[in-house]
Amino acid sequence: MLFDFLQKNGATMELAELIVELGRAVEEISTTIIHTGTGKVGSKNVYGEEQIAMDVKADEIMGRYLKTNPYVAAYCSEEMDALEPADEGGIFSVFHDPLDGSSLFDVNFSVGTIVGIYQGRNVIGRTPREQVAALYAVYGPRSTLVLSVGNGVHEFVLTSEGWELSRENITLSGEKKYFAPGNLRATKDREDYFQLVSFYIKEQYTLRYSGGMVPDLNHILQKGSGVFLYPGMPSAPHGKLRLLYECGPMAYIMEQAGGLSSNGEKSILDLEIRDLTQTTPIFIGVKEEVKRAEEMLK
Ligand code: F6P
Repeated sequence: MLFDFLQKNGATMELAELIVELGRAVEEISTTIIHTGTGKVGSKNVYGEEQIAMDVKADEIMGRYLKTNPYVAAYCSEEMDALEPADEGGIFSVFHDPLDGSSLFDVNFSVGTIVGIYQGRNVIGRTPREQVAALYAVYGPRSTLVLSVGNGVHEFVLTSEGWELSRENITLSGEKKYFAPGNLRATKDREDYFQLVSFYIKEQYTLRYSGGMVPDLNHILQKGSGVFLYPGMPSAPHGKLRLLYECGPMAYIMEQAGGLSSNGEKSILDLEIRDLTQTTPIFIGVKEEVKRAEEMLK
């Protein structure tokens, strides 16, 4: 089902097979989540964030599927220190955040997995626009897989029969006004951000912010409207969200759905990848709201 759909959408056989394999990894993460406790494991990732057991397990599951896939040349994740070579004859490199929003795991909010796929082994000096596919999974009351292979955005839902298509060609219409203001702490030092948030409140936008990038952006996509912001601040001018593992794939999907993404100056898809741990400010969602944020947060 998933394989045929991907091929009909223009994915090559190799890309379709890789995504089907990623679907299996996501399914395993989804079932593992149910049986995994909330405890920390005492280690930190490259960003100095404390890891919980599920961070480590999700990374291990993704790594196991990627390492043995004949189409994967190399891969890296938010939890890994360096690019890991996989198959000598591989043609794709894969970048992923195995468990996005893991700080919400103990309170039982939705979490997710994010993946960006590039042709070739090396991404340094390239841009996220060169991704050949991106996907994210949401582990909520249902497990869903939202993906694009460069031909619209589609959602699959995990059933006892496997991944079944649940929504085709999801687009942003911009009718309802939702806002998801990440890094709200930055309003202390940034009057412009304070003014933008005040504008949303005065204009009676609806607040939808869980603190997980995946469910928060999925909300915007599923409702067809809204904007998510994670601006920088003086102590962290580039914010904290990662270009390769979070912002790049999400920007690919949102722009495929007719939305926009920006670092304040240009599309996230046009940022040069300088290193694997690069972070960027991000405004993402419906076009007019991203443009408003660009104007107000100069
Ligand atoms: O990068 C992890 C993450 O949990 C994102 O999923 C989320 O959007 C962001 O951090 C929330 O950050 P903060 O707690 O600073 O608002």
